[in-house]
Amino acid sequence: MKKKMTISSIQKAKGVTPLVMITAYDALFASLFESSCDMILVGDSLNMSFAGKSDTLSATMDQMIYHTNAVCNGAKNSFVICDMPFGTYTNEDDALKNAIRVFQETSADCVKIEGGDDKANIVKHLTSNGIAVCGHIGLLPQSVRSEGGYKVKGKTSAECLSLIEDAIAIEDAGAFCMVVEGVKAEVAAELANSVDIPVIGIGAGCDVDGQVLVFSDMLGLFEEFTPKFVKKYIDGASLVRDAVINYADEVKKREFPQEIHTY
Ligand code: KIV
Repeated sequence: MKKKMTISSIQKAKGVTPLVMITAYDALFASLFESSCDMILVGDSLNMSFAGKSDTLSATMDQMIYHTNAVCNGAKNSFVICDMPFGTYTNEDDALKNAIRVFQETSADCVKIEGGDDKANIVKHLTSNGIAVCGHIGLLPQSVRSEGGYKVKGKTSAECLSLIEDAIAIEDAGAFCMVVEGVKAEVAAELANSVDIPVIGIGAGCDVDGQVLVFSDMLGLFEEFTPKFVKKYIDGASLVRDAVINYADEVKKREFPQEIHTY
């Protein structure tokens, strides 16, 4: 059986072997990902690919807890990260109250929060109260409305400097690892070299300490849009659609069920 990663083994992987993170929102997919992935992220991206919303902003604490429990049930040997949804960590008290809910109501191993230097006080408050935190800097999906879209970061030297300051601020505040999203590859590489904790990239090139993808993107199930950084490992949508067309066709023709499916 696979040995579950710990904060210590995740940190020791930096500079040794790339870490593999994937999202999951339910027990079934989590159980399929468990043997090949080091960490499973219950991302608030579930609001889009699971709940059909246009962004992540309306995800709630209750939803995250429900899905995190499902993932923990399906992947008991996985290191599970629960995203803190938009609006649930705007101040230290709320952040701690909501993160404690995650720890008391699920068996997630840590929470993830979006933001750099501006959220360092929150990271420090959580970590000093026994909540492990994975940071998330660069392109922040929870800021999509205030920024007017999903904007790649690190295009100017000022942005590059501020990203590195963000990374150092959340490392200093106690985050044990961080996700870096939508950042020019050379900047992400420099950023990963500027901190001692693992930097997991998504749309951040390959010179970082690991990668994360949203499972419904990499399985080709989510068809609304495909960011440049996504590799579709299978065309899941076509496979599923064809299978269901086949099923419907056989039902209409009374070809299913056959003798072997009948009591
Ligand atoms: O919500 C999510 O799936 C994420 C990934 C994009 C890293 O935060």
